[in-house]
Amino acid sequence: EKAGFEHFMMKEIHEQPKAVSDTLNSVLKNGAIDLSEVGLSEEEMKEISQIYIVACGSAYHVGMAAQYVIEDLARIPVRVELASEFRYRNPILDPKGLVIIISQSGETADSLAALRESKEMGIKTLGIVNVIGSSIAREADNVFYTLAGPEISVATTKAYSTQLIATYALAIQFAKVRGQITEEQYTGYIEELQTIPDKISKIIADKERIQWFAAKQANAKDAFFVGRGIDYAISLEGSLKMKEISYIHSEAYAAGELKHGTISLIEDGTLVIGVLTQPDLYEKTVSNMVECKSRGAYLMGLTTFGHYNIEDTADFTVYIPKTDPHFATSLAVIPLQLMGYYVSVAKGLDVDKPRNLAKSVTVE
Ligand code: F6R
Repeated sequence: EKAGFEHFMMKEIHEQPKAVSDTLNSVLKNGAIDLSEVGLSEEEMKEISQIYIVACGSAYHVGMAAQYVIEDLARIPVRVELASEFRYRNPILDPKGLVIIISQSGETADSLAALRESKEMGIKTLGIVNVIGSSIAREADNVFYTLAGPEISVATTKAYSTQLIATYALAIQFAKVRGQITEEQYTGYIEELQTIPDKISKIIADKERIQWFAAKQANAKDAFFVGRGIDYAISLEGSLKMKEISYIHSEAYAAGELKHGTISLIEDGTLVIGVLTQPDLYEKTVSNMVECKSRGAYLMGLTTFGHYNIEDTADFTVYIPKTDPHFATSLAVIPLQLMGYYVSVAKGLDVDKPRNLAKSVTVE
């Protein structure tokens, strides 16, 4: 059932290229995005004034990445919120807004409650859901199914990756319908998305290098993931993958926030992982990494081919293939999934069933 892999998590990591391409192909028709199955009409998409993305855990991190992509491409204001916060704060929702609930299981108690709360307020809802026929899928006005297939490992990998693709498709379509991008840009973005599965495969093929580095980190007490913009969203997910299965205390920080507190925790040998996929933010984050280094941090850099001067600062560098910076999360997350996995294996932990966690959180 693990198809020759030692753990479901590794099997599911390897299933990502196919899962991502299945999700993408489900909304592609003749080289264009077609959301008729999802049920969003162009008329509706033109009128939406505001998007609220509500989710928990990794699905929330998808929302964090999507916020940058949707706002930048489609110029619609996006607010991302944890479902457990949203539902209790008596939210003020624009009646012309759209609430997007992201959930693999479709059964997460807080996400389901947030959906019900939104519906009661009469606002349009869309679920990005993996489990077909689940509560959120049944109750949302519209559903965008991710086609990741069953995910067994508690730590999500392929569901997360397919959720990301779904949000990119929405962002590109919103951008086109609302006249924010040219026909040429539209086709360009879609073509770039179609290259993502192969690029993910290439990163996975290089997994032994991550394994080697991860094994050396097995005794780390703390890990700090830092980045700006989309790289901050990637850091959030990298940090969660690390802590949930390897039990190393880890935190994600917006790189510019380091000097407002966290840098006091950096001492000799503290592991800092800098995420640097965004060309316009690269130099800024490099200078934050230099600051960490001068306080003794042990640095890993995660960046795109071409950004070689990171090697002046980082002790270990991982390169990912080039893509449009909007979609970098889909590639940068892969080495971070592998890191969490291999640290967990090196420590002899139960990778697929980490302590205290359940696959589907149906209690509040
Ligand atoms: C982390 C993880 C969790 C889930 C969260 C939401 O690897 O899997 O953080 O992302 O519990 O679950 P769903 O997507 O089922 O609502």
